[in-house]
Amino acid sequence: MDVWDAQTYGSRWHEIYDGLPWPEPTAAVDFLAKLAADGPALELAIGTGRVAIPLVQRGVEVHGLDTSPEMVAQLRAKDGGADIPVRTADIAAFTVEGEYALAFLVLNTLYALQTQEEQLSCFRSVAAALCPGGHFVVEAFMPDPTRFRRNSWTQVHQVGLDHVLIEADQHDPSTQRILEQHIHFRQGKAELFPAFLRYTWPSEMDLMARLAGLEPIERFGGWAGEPFTAQSGNVVSVFRRPES
Ligand SMILES: C[S@@+](CC[C@H](N)C(=O)[O-])C[C@H]1O[C@@H](n2cnc3c(N)ncnc32)[C@H](O)[C@@H]1O
Repeated sequence: MDVWDAQTYGSRWHEIYDGLPWPEPTAAVDFLAKLAADGPALELAIGTGRVAIPLVQRGVEVHGLDTSPEMVAQLRAKDGGADIPVRTADIAAFTVEGEYALAFLVLNTLYALQTQEEQLSCFRSVAAALCPGGHFVVEAFMPDPTRFRRNSWTQVHQVGLDHVLIEADQHDPSTQRILEQHIHFRQGKAELFPAFLRYTWPSEMDLMARLAGLEPIERFGGWAGEPFTAQSGNVVSVFRRPES
């Protein structure tokens, strides 16, 4: 498989996804629950329900979209996961019935959309899915082109007696794309876990939101409301559909 498409992430990562050291979701759930008000809320790229399930347990009605049947099967197998309405849809362009008080797209997944056109189209789809006054929250890493030398980067993440985990990335600053490969050598073989992405600057995100008819209203450096500064590694952005 040489071409990345909207199903690739789930088909490659679903078996190991829930075992990865993702951030604990409580602060994200607190943040999102406040904005969801009386709901309902829509998670774009819901995955295995890392955030959606605890948000439902907080009393918020959550619906989800995802392209990966494998990731959604993991969600379905969890307590409370079978009851969350999830539709197979590409977040690059989707329509929904009804209107949502909150839409959210977390853990860098806006960057899973490989072009600016797809990302803008996602903002437009969200704008049409929100009720007047409804919010859209996007969480992503802050791009850091300085980590690349000659547009590439390698890092050894783990070394054990019988395994090693190495990451090898290529960067194209002209398209803002990063091709990541996570290479796991174990039991005498190499497994590849790719993540191809297009990062977006916060200012570009604001412009995409405005073009889609949303207002940028707040930006933080993390889910606990940390100030967003030049040192922030993470960006939590809040957009709103105007009341009229
Ligand atoms: C990093 S996981 C995030 C899952 C979940 N939101 C979380 O926070 O754990 C990325 C998810 O995005 C989904 N995905 C990737 N590209 C997509 C697309 N174009 N449309 C819908 N879902 C997509 C994958 O199937 C996967 O479930």
